[in-house]
Amino acid sequence: MRHGSIRAKYERIARFYDRLDRSFETKRYRPLRPVLFAGLNGAVLDAGVGTGCNMPFYAPGTWVVGIDLSRAMLGRAKAKAAALGIVARLAQMDIRHTAFADSGFDAAVATFLFCVLAPDDQHPTLLELKRIVRPGGEIRLLEYVYSRHPVRRFVQWLWSPWVRFAYGAGFDRETARHVSEAGLIMIEERFLFRDMIKLIVARVPV
Ligand SMILES: C[S@@+](CC[C@H](N)C(=O)[O-])C[C@H]1O[C@@H](n2cnc3c(N)ncnc32)[C@H](O)[C@@H]1O
Repeated sequence: MRHGSIRAKYERIARFYDRLDRSFETKRYRPLRPVLFAGLNGAVLDAGVGTGCNMPFYAPGTWVVGIDLSRAMLGRAKAKAAALGIVARLAQMDIRHTAFADSGFDAAVATFLFCVLAPDDQHPTLLELKRIVRPGGEIRLLEYVYSRHPVRRFVQWLWSPWVRFAYGAGFDRETARHVSEAGLIMIEERFLFRDMIKLIVARVPV
């Protein structure tokens, strides 16, 4: 899917996004989000910040910048930041080629972004994150993949047309495979929810 159409999709669904996702957010994602931010401090990029669902989990004192393709999603994130009393630095930007300087962040996180990025964008996006995170800094991702369990996989397969239509996302991205290809060091790769939502922690080589 072209990134123009991804942007248009999120411009359209921003108003409904939190309602659309509420039961998944409450039951499935919210317990996983703190894992991503555990021990992270300094300057952190939240790539594909969306409506700001990660915000409650930013550690106090962390200097977070959130970027997203969609202005409407950023508007929701801004409102969430205000409600939470967080000073949010939000910008409309494409993660595949950002305006950030080399090595400017101590870490980057992305939750459910790489399952929206096209397969061909996985590698260049990891390269861009590697460029803007300092050597020794971590890149932490939370992403859906297809389960190996036949029944779960079948249910995901049934869901996939809706997931593609609603979010422009897929369960078939092979983000972990691109980590070493992008010259990053894989620190951790493990499932946080069944064998469907994976935590990937990679380090930028020193
Ligand atoms: C499925 S939502 C996840 C939002 C949020 N991270 C969360 O955990 O709820 C994916 C988000 O990534 C954004 N996005 C998609 N492609 C992007 C790109 N190339 N650059 C920046 N943001 C992008 C979308 O606009 C959307 O807000």
